[in-house]
Amino acid sequence: YVLGVDLGTSGVKVLLVNREGSVEYEKTASLTLIQEKTGYAEQDPNEWVEQTYEAISTLLSESNINPHLVEGISFAGQMHGLVLLDSNNQVIRNSILWNDTRTTEECQDIYRSVGKDRLLDITKNLALEGFTLPKLLWIKKHEPNNFNKIQTFLLPKDYVRYRLTGKLHMDYSDAAGTLLLDLAKNKWSEEICELMEIPTEICPELINSIAEVGTLTEEASKKSGLNMATKVFAGGADNACAAIGSGVLREDKTLVSIGTSGVVLSYEESGDKNFEGKVHYFNHGAPDAFYSMGVTLAAGHSLSWYKETFANDIGFDELVQEASTVKPGAGGLLFTPYINGERTPHVDATIRGSFIGIDASHKRQHFTRAILEGITFSLQESVSILRESGKKIETIISVGGGAKSDLWIQMQADIFQTKVIRLTSEQGPGMGAAMIASVGVGWFNSLADCGDVFIQEEKVYKPIEENVELYHDLFHLYKQVYSSTNKIN
Ligand code: XUL
Repeated sequence: YVLGVDLGTSGVKVLLVNREGSVEYEKTASLTLIQEKTGYAEQDPNEWVEQTYEAISTLLSESNINPHLVEGISFAGQMHGLVLLDSNNQVIRNSILWNDTRTTEECQDIYRSVGKDRLLDITKNLALEGFTLPKLLWIKKHEPNNFNKIQTFLLPKDYVRYRLTGKLHMDYSDAAGTLLLDLAKNKWSEEICELMEIPTEICPELINSIAEVGTLTEEASKKSGLNMATKVFAGGADNACAAIGSGVLREDKTLVSIGTSGVVLSYEESGDKNFEGKVHYFNHGAPDAFYSMGVTLAAGHSLSWYKETFANDIGFDELVQEASTVKPGAGGLLFTPYINGERTPHVDATIRGSFIGIDASHKRQHFTRAILEGITFSLQESVSILRESGKKIETIISVGGGAKSDLWIQMQADIFQTKVIRLTSEQGPGMGAAMIASVGVGWFNSLADCGDVFIQEEKVYKPIEENVELYHDLFHLYKQVYSSTNKIN
C-alpha cells in the first residue's frame, strides 16, 4: 500500500491506496480556521501535524492494515500558506493562508519594486494577495520582530513533511506559488529576493515532487503508527496533485474541476510560454512539466448560495435535474457568477454578479439553468485564454460537482466545444499524492504509467452541434457583461 495525504484548509484527508489504484480506506481529520479580522485566514501548523497523525493512526487501526505493508507516503497541500521557522526550526507564528487577503498594499509594493513586466518574466504570475511573497512582506512591515527571527520559510505540506522526517525542503510545484521562483529556470530568483529585501538564505532547498526525502523519525512513527522505514516522497501543491490524480499528465489533457471555486488546469510541456499573467502558470508535480490554470472564484459557491437563498426546500440533485426541463439559453436569462469578485480573467475583487434578461414567464428552473450556464461561461473564459495562446484543448476531464450531473457535463461539452470525460472515481489531490508515492516506491516508472492503471474513464460527452452554436453566441454576450457592470457597487 501507499498513503496519499491531502492537507486541505478544512481538513486533512488520508487515502490508503493499493497497487491497482483503489482506495481501500480513507480518513479525514478536521482543521480549525482562525479568522481574527475580516480578510484574515490563519492556521496553526502544529494542528496540521497533530491532525495528520490522528488521521493516519485512526486509518491504520480502523482498517486493521499491518503498518509494515505501507511502503510509502506523500503529500498534496493547500498552496501559498506562509510557515515561518526560527533557528531551532520552531514555528514563529500561525500560518497566513492562501485565502487571506490582507496583503493588497504588499502586492502594489512588489509591482513598484520589481515591475509588473519583470515579475511576469521571472515568475510568470501576477502579484495576488493569496501568494506567499506578499505575506512575507506583510510580516516584515507589521511584525519586524518575527521577521528577524526567520531562518526558513516553508509551505503547509512541507512543514508537515518536515515534522515527519526532520528534513527541510520545498517542491517546485508549491514553490511556484510563492512569487519567488524563477519558473522556467527552476531556481529561487535572487533578483526578486534582492529587490524585495528578502534574505535568500530563508528559501529552502528545492526538490522534485517525486523525490525521496527519507524515512520517518521515531516520534513520527510512534504518533502515526507507521513503520519507521516507510519511505517519504516530497509531494506537491494541491492543484498539481489534482492534475496528477485526474490523469492530466500529457500536453493534450485539461482538467475542469468545479468545487466551491472552479478551476481550468492544462498540462504544459514548456515553462516559458507567455500568458501575460492572464492565467496562473505553475510547475507541475511531474518532473520538468508545468500547468496553466484559470480560476472562477464562485463556481459551486454560486449554486450553493442560490440554493440556500431561493431553493432550500429541495436537494441539489433535484434542483439541477429541474433545470433540464428548460432549453439551453435559459429562456434568455443570463447569469454572471461574480458573487465574490472574480479571478480569471478579470482579477477584480470588487465586481459583483448579475441576472440579466428576467422575464415574467421565468420559473425557478430558468434561474437554475442560468446559474449553471453562467458558471460554465466563466470557466470558458479560461479555456478561451488557453486556446488563444495557441493551445489545443480537445479533451477535458471534468471532476467535482460539475461532473456529477449529465445535464451539467453535457453543457460543458457544448460550451467548451470539445469532448468532456467523466472518470469512474475521483479522489482529487490525495490520489495524486498516492500516485507520487506509488512511483517513488517503484510500482511504476512514471506518473503517466501509473495514471494508465489508476485512472479510468467512465463516459465521454460530445458537443451537440445546435447547442454549440447557441452557446457560442451567448458567450459573446456574457463576455460583455463585465465591462457594463463593473462600475456598479
Ligand atoms: C491556488 C489556490 C488554491 C489553494 C487551495 O492558487 O490559491 O487552489 O491551493 O488549496
